[in-house]
Amino acid sequence: MDLFKLDGKVAIVTGAGRGIGRSIAKGLAEAGAHIVICSRTEKELLELKSEIDDAGGSSTVMTCDVTDEENIQQVVDDTVKEFGSIDILVNNAGITKKAPALDYDLDDFKRIIDVNLTSVFVFAQKVGRVMAKQQSGSIINISSIASVQAVTGSIPYTASKGAVAMITRTLAVEWAKYNIRVNAIAPAYIETPLVEEVKKTRTGFAEAVAKRTPMGRMGRPDEMAGAAIFLAGEASSYMTGETLFLDGGWKAYGL
Ligand code: NAI
Repeated sequence: MDLFKLDGKVAIVTGAGRGIGRSIAKGLAEAGAHIVICSRTEKELLELKSEIDDAGGSSTVMTCDVTDEENIQQVVDDTVKEFGSIDILVNNAGITKKAPALDYDLDDFKRIIDVNLTSVFVFAQKVGRVMAKQQSGSIINISSIASVQAVTGSIPYTASKGAVAMITRTLAVEWAKYNIRVNAIAPAYIETPLVEEVKKTRTGFAEAVAKRTPMGRMGRPDEMAGAAIFLAGEASSYMTGETLFLDGGWKAYGL
């Protein structure tokens, strides 16, 4: 089981305040890593910190807007100053907004690309510079089933997630020489506040997803943590450039 231990490692998790990021932060902390939990809402982060610390883990709160380059640099600099290294980065922050492609508002399109795609590169680049010096590191990007399959009404979301899969491959190849591994997790529908918002705009959505998913249900946020622990540490030491689909069989299913 030592392959899954993250003792002594330092991890940054973005969008950690709730949903998938929160579960991944808790999972990595349980495996032994110190977690720098980043998001915009300090209140959610402080609650998460108490939960992690109460469970015997350790964490540091750093508020951060992932669309703000200076803010990202600050988080990276503060983490290195305080802990001396960054071993794991989880690029999780993400948003969506539904509208038909013919009517999609350009400002909304750009905002979603900024949060879901540009921030993944900017955070990876700034952390990658630290990891290249260390000659070690693992970066995990949260992609989506929407990286390989069309989702109607979600044009910037699918575009951003498809691009995250390619950022993952390209950085993996460029940075293998620095012993930095870059992989992605692609969930299908997971019961988080983000999906709650989608449910509000589409009646029958949850039932339709359950019917389309071979496992007959949406995923839970806590079901994302195991793959993150696997990708973060030694258990996946020869894996890079890959996307793991956690989708209840969604992608395997044809008709
Ligand atoms: P969520 O809405 O529950 O949580 C997203 C987190 O990102 C929140 O903590 C939010 O504050 C943070 N965030 C948003 N914009 C930010 C910004 N500018 N700066 C810093 N933090 C920001 O969403 P959920 O469902 O947990 O999604 C997490 C990731 O998983 C996203 O990248 C999403 O696209 C992806 N995903 C989610 C799926 C789902 O069904 N819930 C399916 C596939 C992928």
